Amino acid sequence: TILILDFGSQYSHLITRRCREHNVYAELMPCTTKMSEVGFKPKGIILSGSPYSVYDKDAPRVDPAVFEQGVPILGICYGLQEMISSMGGTVSKAAHREYGFAKLNISKPSPLFDGLGDELDVWMSHTDQVHGLPEGFHVIASTSTAPFAGVSHDSKPWYGIQFHPEVTHSERGKEVIGRFIVDICGSHKSWTMEEFIGKEIARIRALCGDTGRVIGAVSGGVDSTVAAKLMHEAIGDRFHAIMVDNGVLRMDEGAQVLKMLREDLGVNLTVVDASDLFLGRLEGIEDPEQKRKIIGNTFINVFEDEAHKLEKDGKVEWLLQGTLYPDVIESISFKGPSATIKTHHNVGGLLADMKLKLIEPLRELFKDEVRALGRLLGIPHHLVQRHPFPGPGLAIRILGPVTRAQVAILQHADKIYLEEIHAAGIYDQISQAFAVLLPVRAVGVQGDARTYEQVIALRAVQSEDFMTADWYVFEPKVLRKISSRITNEVEGINRVVYDVSSKPPATVEWL
Ligand code: XMP
Repeated sequence: TILILDFGSQYSHLITRRCREHNVYAELMPCTTKMSEVGFKPKGIILSGSPYSVYDKDAPRVDPAVFEQGVPILGICYGLQEMISSMGGTVSKAAHREYGFAKLNISKPSPLFDGLGDELDVWMSHTDQVHGLPEGFHVIASTSTAPFAGVSHDSKPWYGIQFHPEVTHSERGKEVIGRFIVDICGSHKSWTMEEFIGKEIARIRALCGDTGRVIGAVSGGVDSTVAAKLMHEAIGDRFHAIMVDNGVLRMDEGAQVLKMLREDLGVNLTVVDASDLFLGRLEGIEDPEQKRKIIGNTFINVFEDEAHKLEKDGKVEWLLQGTLYPDVIESISFKGPSATIKTHHNVGGLLADMKLKLIEPLRELFKDEVRALGRLLGIPHHLVQRHPFPGPGLAIRILGPVTRAQVAILQHADKIYLEEIHAAGIYDQISQAFAVLLPVRAVGVQGDARTYEQVIALRAVQSEDFMTADWYVFEPKVLRKISSRITNEVEGINRVVYDVSSKPPATVEWL
């Protein structure tokens, strides 16, 4: 295992990602973790970047014990500066804040850059830089503005780099990380989903014993489907899945999930149609946060009722949750000042009441690891590659009040949009695509008649982690076909627009 100490950089989770891509297990912990609390002996330690300066009064400091573990250390950006300043070198403000591409000249052979040539395109994002090395260190790489862009200890396997190898803009960054974790640390490439399945099934069986029963919500999304199938493999029908139809799902979603999970995958599943209850509570509500709250709370009510029904056949002890590693990282990572933009609902509120114990088989996995696991479990490609769909569903894609009629219009437009994206063979290039129903009306003409109807906005984005996103560039003929079909086939719509906003400053969803 590689230990990554997070000093709060927006890129920290990507370091973990890149290690996993080398099939090396890596775990991220906040920089405030003491070595004595780590709980395993790491093969190597990576110190992340940070929004702080090492000379700030409240700057997070590394536990000095890190340097006494006798294992290789790699400092990235702030991590480099923290290592150098801890060892007595100097770090201060750079002449200019540097953000963007730089040419890295590798000036001295080093195992960190072995086989990568003598020049690399790298991504820089820093205000401070190293100005003087402590005794025992030497330079291995530089850029035109950063003379200490790569440093190494003379005798110990300690390295520091000013650039960010973890971001994909750093052309061979993943290889640099590979040099460190595999060649320098000697990590085994043993983190694979094949190994994971067997171990996780054994762990679930041990946890639930011979009689323990588990319930879990499924949504038709990748995570809950994979988690449900894994539970089914482990304990068969002692796992019971519940899908709540909240009235704001995609068209025919309930029926499709039923077919796929129950008939194709054999999972013990109940679909509950609670659409009247949800739509009733949503009546007249426009505020997005209120919509989220109502849907979240109503979901808990319905799910609990179903769970109590199941209790008639014997006690249910466990609740399955499809928590992924990014959620875990989000909750443990070291935070500078940051604000909640939207509250993404989850079902955590269930526990208090039912005293269910949590079972989270995916909590160590990143999204693409979940997809790989899904494929190994025999879940069909189209499902494993499915775009994410938000818990509050179409309610946050209908900009005005949510009614059955508005839901029907949006479902229809959304279905056509996705059909055409599939037909164009571009679904897998897009991270998320959906239609949005605007509460405004515009004038149009149909036959000889004037129309005055609503507008559909189309959204399609590409994104690595949904923290940032870029709008997708369609071929005009694809957009033309989509627009023509929606205006012709969907009653109540006479105009289609395409959203060309990136995140930031927009968000992916409109609400
Ligand atoms: P934003 O709009 O915040 O979306 O840029 C980023 C990702 O999060 C999804 N999203 C949600 N998912 N409940 C969810 O389960 C929510 O309330 C919610 N709001 C946004 C969004 O679809 C995108 O994938």
